[in-house]
Amino acid sequence: MERSFVMLKPGVLNRRIAGEIISRLEKKGLKLVGLKLMQITAELAAKHYAEHKDKSFFSDLQAYITSGPVVAMVWEGEDCVSIVRKLVGSTKVADAQPGTIRGDYALHTNLNIIHASDAPKSAEREIALFFRPDEIIDWEDQAARWF
Ligand code: PPS
Repeated sequence: MERSFVMLKPGVLNRRIAGEIISRLEKKGLKLVGLKLMQITAELAAKHYAEHKDKSFFSDLQAYITSGPVVAMVWEGEDCVSIVRKLVGSTKVADAQPGTIRGDYALHTNLNIIHASDAPKSAEREIALFFRPDEIIDWEDQAARWF
């Protein structure tokens, strides 16, 4: 079973749409195993986005992600990483298809509302950055067979 790290960015809380976005992942049948509201520090943002530290947009990205609370989550399921990326849609919002989260809710790439791990290896790294092992609940999913 694969896990993905997903983060709702500060605009989501401000727009009061956290429930709607979480609902999309739940309805797909993915299993929520970790969830918390966090105020990210500049240091944690720098670690999370380390591979982008030399990009021109890095300081904007860091400023946005630390500007208010985020919802950090761990989702689980078969092929979870690629399924979540499909539900989320393209990073560049102009390329994000209608029906995807970014396609339906985001107008500007720098405010693209959600982060999702791009590969199982990055998911492992990101989950370890944001969650202690005891904050992830390995609950028995009685409904799994219906999805
Ligand atoms: S790149 O250049 O292809 O490596 O970048 P990409 O993987 O598309 O994006 C890396 C993260 O940076 C965010 N991003 C931006 N933030 C602010 N301003 C601009 N212009 C911008 N372009 C990309 C992008 O949303 C990625 O963050 P996450 O949190 O994964 O969405």
